[in-house]
Amino acid sequence: MDEQTIVVRKLTPGIGAEITGVDLARPLGNHAFQAIHDALMQNLVIFFRDQDLTHDQQKAFGRRFGELHIHPTSIATVPNHPEVLVIKADEKSKFVAGEEWHTDVSCDPEPPMGSILYLKEVPPDGGGDTLFASMYRAFETLSPPIQKLCESLTAIHDGAQVYGGRFGQKPKEGGFPKNEHPVVRTHPVTGRKALYVNRNFTTRIVQLGKRESDALLNLLWDHSETPEFQCRFAWRPNSIAFWDNRAAMHHAMWDYFPHRRLGYRVTVKGDKPFYRA
Ligand code: SIN
Repeated sequence: MDEQTIVVRKLTPGIGAEITGVDLARPLGNHAFQAIHDALMQNLVIFFRDQDLTHDQQKAFGRRFGELHIHPTSIATVPNHPEVLVIKADEKSKFVAGEEWHTDVSCDPEPPMGSILYLKEVPPDGGGDTLFASMYRAFETLSPPIQKLCESLTAIHDGAQVYGGRFGQKPKEGGFPKNEHPVVRTHPVTGRKALYVNRNFTTRIVQLGKRESDALLNLLWDHSETPEFQCRFAWRPNSIAFWDNRAAMHHAMWDYFPHRRLGYRVTVKGDKPFYRA
């Protein structure tokens, strides 16, 4: 395919873009890689339609952006592909992955930079959209005194809360990951500041008493879920979403029970979150 045909169309001014003119089953040339990388940095989450990928091809696409991440729990993966998570819901499901606002595996010491979700089956009557929120906008729209306070804080992100709780999974080794990260992180590529707390994993702000921590976390969660910071993706079979976990959080809408939705997620490793004034 002629790499010059790549087109990036924004879904909203602040977050989300759809990319056409690229076949992700084929090795990405440098021009295509750069165009996709830049679109991800500018739009936080990018979408592709009508892609036909094997597990190996999905992994090869992910590897263009970095090493692949292995999930720290017993979450289902494709046989012989430990890097490919199965994202599935049907009439037997008691929960679905991602049904609470979160960034992926923020409990890890070096949480994933990005995630690439490829859906093969979608519910027959609609539903099952994924919502994405810009954590840049969440930070930028806080009032300056609250921004200043948040910039001075760190928080605990604990995998036990969600993986050991609602999901009933087991850690691969030792316990579930539990790590301290800045409440505001500087994006290593764009240099922009993003709020970095989420309902799934963040349990406590280290420098505050419990009541203060609970109150501030609730304020920050409510604020970061403001509809104006969001875009929403309506899946079709063979669509792909690729999101930047350092700048966006997401929420999988489970409004289609008992119908089936099936896909595969490849996750790209990231680095240790940091804050730079
Ligand atoms: C996830 O959080 O990886 C799942 C997102 C989705 O199923 O839409």
